[in-house]
Amino acid sequence: MTQQEIVLNKPDDMHLHLRDGDMLSAVVEHSARDFARAIVMPNLVPPVTTVEDATRYRQRILDALGSGTSFEPLMTLYLTESTTAGDLEKAAASNIVKAVKLYPAGATTNSDSGVRDIAKSYHLFEKMAELDLPLLVHGEVTDDDIDIFDREAVFIDRVLDPIRRTIPELRIVMEHVTTKDGVDYVGSAGNNLFATLTTHHLMLNRNAMLVGGIRPHYYCLPILKREEHRQALRAAATSGDARFFLGTDSAPHTTYTKENACGCAGVFSAANSLGCLATVFEEEQALENLNAFTSVNGAKFYGLDINDAKMRLVRTSEPAVFPQHFKVGAETVTVFDPGKPIYWHVDHAASL
Ligand code: NCD
Ligand code: ZN
Repeated sequence: MTQQEIVLNKPDDMHLHLRDGDMLSAVVEHSARDFARAIVMPNLVPPVTTVEDATRYRQRILDALGSGTSFEPLMTLYLTESTTAGDLEKAAASNIVKAVKLYPAGATTNSDSGVRDIAKSYHLFEKMAELDLPLLVHGEVTDDDIDIFDREAVFIDRVLDPIRRTIPELRIVMEHVTTKDGVDYVGSAGNNLFATLTTHHLMLNRNAMLVGGIRPHYYCLPILKREEHRQALRAAATSGDARFFLGTDSAPHTTYTKENACGCAGVFSAANSLGCLATVFEEEQALENLNAFTSVNGAKFYGLDINDAKMRLVRTSEPAVFPQHFKVGAETVTVFDPGKPIYWHVDHAASL
């Protein structure tokens, strides 16, 4: 008989964009509902580059939460060419900053402050290894001559592997891994390399974005890949392997800025990720490994206790109904459309 419910430790989202101002106020409740904690990305304009910035941003996130809502933002710093060893020492000594994010300049939304010449950051990577401060990488090269679908594989060869060979003690997370190349590289790499996986890359391949009309709400970076890659991601996520954990990469943009001649990259999936993930794990006959992926592996990587609070997911005979949009001022944000009926949803009424 089909399994009808599953109880998880409350999940953590280990890669999340919360933005700032009105957008932050509108989106944070969606994450707080289904997640206990989140690793919050620092790609604001201007970026979060110091402990002081991170402390202020964290307070703005807490202020945006309704009273009585418990949600812990885990902060990150944005690595720039101006970052100093002193900045890293302060970060490691703080209780606030959990990791440092490397964006190759121009790789994605708000990455203009990113690193142009990675060689100039090696002394900082050495310092991070010494401080045991993890490096989170947006694993795509930005060279004009590299096809957008090949950017992750080339990043591994040209950037990631040289860093790992030079500084093997540095703990690294390949954020939002999207290819078989990435999964295989992490799988063969011992215990200092980890990866987050997004909900949308587990559910969709690039056909969803491009066949029968262009669907801008599926445009994100790294871009959706072909089916063989999605299959590799699903195998990794559902395997129970402690090196793979959830980072939704939920990244809100207004509907207007996505449905546009030059649409923004980012999928907003914080509101319905868990039902989607239960569906993926059910399809892969691996529901018993869902808790490891959503609630255990990431916490262990960051040296955090697994959440005591529990969450119940239930399977219903009718598809779950999710809101398709929500308002941000006069604009809306469009919620991730999984592209098929989802029979699992979080039972928010359950007291566990
Ligand atoms: C992210 C965003 O909008 O901030 N967009 C995305 O497509 N994932 C940036 C990022 O994580 O690449
Ligand atoms: Zn991201």
